[in-house]
Amino acid sequence: MLVPTILENHEMMSEVAAGFLLRTILEKPTSLLCLATGSTPMRSYQLLAKSRPERFTQARVIKLDEWAGLPMESPATCETFLRSALIDPLQLSTRYVSFNSQVTDRPAECARIAQWLRRNGPIDLCVLGLGVNGHLGFNEPADALQPHAHVASLSASSLSHSMIAEEPIKPEAGLTLGMADLLQSREILLLVSGPTKQEPLRRLLLGEISTHFPATFLQLHSRVTLLCDAAAAESVSKP
Ligand code: GLP
Repeated sequence: MLVPTILENHEMMSEVAAGFLLRTILEKPTSLLCLATGSTPMRSYQLLAKSRPERFTQARVIKLDEWAGLPMESPATCETFLRSALIDPLQLSTRYVSFNSQVTDRPAECARIAQWLRRNGPIDLCVLGLGVNGHLGFNEPADALQPHAHVASLSASSLSHSMIAEEPIKPEAGLTLGMADLLQSREILLLVSGPTKQEPLRRLLLGEISTHFPATFLQLHSRVTLLCDAAAAESVSKP
């Protein structure tokens, strides 16, 4: 059962999340972290990046997902986001694995990431955000979900995501780890923030599991920590 921990605001949620990430690394310095991007986890990563890089000399990071078709150096990519928030400040680049947004052969790129994860996984801690339509990474609502790294068709809601609002080139697809990759993580940290997540959070906590709301599959995992801010949790805290 998913039990939300409700923090007063986004800043407090981010502080708790950054502490959670740091503890994971201190307990197991070689941890493999899978990291989502988007507005929800940004502040947690910025806070974590204030730690001393020497604490992260063995830590490994895999990027959860990416917009396919954008130049890698675009400010809209998950790559730019993660590098500036965490990878560069903590000097993780030699132990960082990520989908390339610009490849011509996208299935081959997904096969490369899938093979890396087979050899180096499982993920120790997977940090996820909740899509307004229930997606995790780019595992979008559908009749069936994909287990491993794959090319995803983007939903209308993903195509209107704030990350790409200013980007002149529109992404053609998503590159993402699959649901089995996420569910095989030893531990999951799900972050939910802001009023637009009230309804998705309510649906997540209903307890049903549906491919049409992929985040509900987290009900099947025994070690999920769900942190929300009060703005997202409003519909949960009301009777
Ligand atoms: C995006 C990303 C996800 C992210 C989610 C929520 O489309 N593909 O990795 O977790 O949507 O984003 P936000 O935190 O900005 O609401």
